[in-house]
Amino acid sequence: MAPNPGPEDKVDTPATDIPESLVTTLRSTQKLTVLTGSGISAESGVPTFRDAQTGLWARYDPMELATPEAFERDPRLVWEWYAWRRKLAGKAAPNRGHEALAELERRVPDFVLLTQNVDGLHHRAGSQNVVELHGNITRSICSVEGVLVEPREDDAIVPPSCPGCGAFLRPDVVWFGEALPAGEIEDAFDAARECDVFFSIGTSGLVQPAASLAFEALRRGAVVVEVNPNDTPLTRHAGYALRGKAGDVLPGLMRAAYD
Ligand code: OAD
Repeated sequence: MAPNPGPEDKVDTPATDIPESLVTTLRSTQKLTVLTGSGISAESGVPTFRDAQTGLWARYDPMELATPEAFERDPRLVWEWYAWRRKLAGKAAPNRGHEALAELERRVPDFVLLTQNVDGLHHRAGSQNVVELHGNITRSICSVEGVLVEPREDDAIVPPSCPGCGAFLRPDVVWFGEALPAGEIEDAFDAARECDVFFSIGTSGLVQPAASLAFEALRRGAVVVEVNPNDTPLTRHAGYALRGKAGDVLPGLMRAAYD
């Protein structure tokens, strides 16, 4: 496994300028793990989690809507916010960043894609081995029993209710203060520990436990690559900080490594 380059070799890479040492590493890697955040969906028109919201939702803070307490206080408001986000995600199409990752999966023998995104765009781009750490906005569950429920098209009452017990339905996503699904988080840490290359793409690295995954990979000696137009707490530790939009950098990386 190639070591991470030292700080003196660190490159802030324009989208089209991929370091040769990274290309060499990528071509020989057997186990690659990727973590994505909402930045990769920004170019599909899905706003990042902490970006200013638009329209009707501009005056709400997402941090105050994505919580069990908010749902308890005002289930209608929270359901409607997610309905808006679901609509945005439904209208959005995967972009060149999502597509490059689907292609990368076909090139690397052992590939795992961990995502904090709930928009389902990685699956729609053709990625197969995807671990959804924060759930999926397209699914609904009973807020009491936790079972998956298909909301009826004609549900006029918001939020709709569970046909089994009558409790409100909620989106099948992880809210602040809730535990991540146990199987998924275990798979994620295994994938971070076992890979030789780890990519952190489009995430601010502010939300635990996902934010620890890149550091776990670093501790185990993996080459860590960040793709983000901005600095994050990971940037100065990463072997490579590829600065730019995922939709530019990732296709550039694929061209450099495999064309
Ligand atoms: P954030 O909104 O915190 O961060 C988005 C990151 O994407 C930032 O670092 C941006 O600089 C970067 N970014 C923006 N545009 C980009 C682009 N075109 N290409 C690459 N990067 C870009 O979103 P997350 O890190 O995903 O969880 O937030 C993590 C979790 O926080 C979310 O999953 C959500 C929230 O808690 C839940 O809802 C449970």
